[in-house]
Amino acid sequence: MELLGIDIGGSGIKGAIVDTEKGEFVTERLRIPTPQPAKPEPVADVVKQIADNFGWKGSIGCTFPAVVKHGVTLTAANVDDDWVGADAQTLLQELTGSPVIVLNDADAAGIAEMKFGAGLNRDGLIVILTLGTGIGSAFFMNGVLIPNTEFGHLKIRGKDAEHRASDKIRQDKEYSWKKWGKRLSEYFQYLEFLFTPDLFIIGGGVSKKHEKFFPYIHCNTEIVPAELRNQAGIVGAAMAAKDL
Ligand code: BGC
Repeated sequence: MELLGIDIGGSGIKGAIVDTEKGEFVTERLRIPTPQPAKPEPVADVVKQIADNFGWKGSIGCTFPAVVKHGVTLTAANVDDDWVGADAQTLLQELTGSPVIVLNDADAAGIAEMKFGAGLNRDGLIVILTLGTGIGSAFFMNGVLIPNTEFGHLKIRGKDAEHRASDKIRQDKEYSWKKWGKRLSEYFQYLEFLFTPDLFIIGGGVSKKHEKFFPYIHCNTEIVPAELRNQAGIVGAAMAAKDL
């Protein structure tokens, strides 16, 4: 089945038509910079532009970097506060004229990674973490997603984990890979204490440099890099739209 997946991020809104059986793009990926300030209407306009660009009339899956329940965005850690309590699904449906499902960005990436990437044929408790501006999380038990886990906001030494250990913090503070690895270790060990996972899958753009920091992460759980990288959000969004 071919469906349109759109990944809304803080700096770019990206979309492509996806073959949901193969987990592959069937078009080029289109990226439009996120309007600033990233308020609901201008962001929704970009989603419409992407759908129009592909001449798309069918269902759309759309990620958002916040808690999303029944189409409503409930938090806004790294996006404009106007999204808190916004009915994103209705807004996007009205504007595009298509059925739309909205889901958390890390959950979408996780759905794709479990079916086509590093989680393929893996059972048990799997925690997927996306290291970027924030830290996103997706939590799977025997392939079933428990959505909106928000592990990036667990408190480590009194601070949100994503304010200590996201990739943005690494870059802003110019941490060495070793220093960042130490912070990630502390975070991963805390997740281990809470959940005793069978596998950690690490995504986000920086995961392509995993050789640089994985050696500094110390925990008992197996850790692997994500395989779909920056396609995961779009593919997972399109897969979620199958349910519409
Ligand atoms: C948000 C999550 C999101 C993550 C990655 C966090 O700040 O709270 O919902 O998945 O960033 O974008």
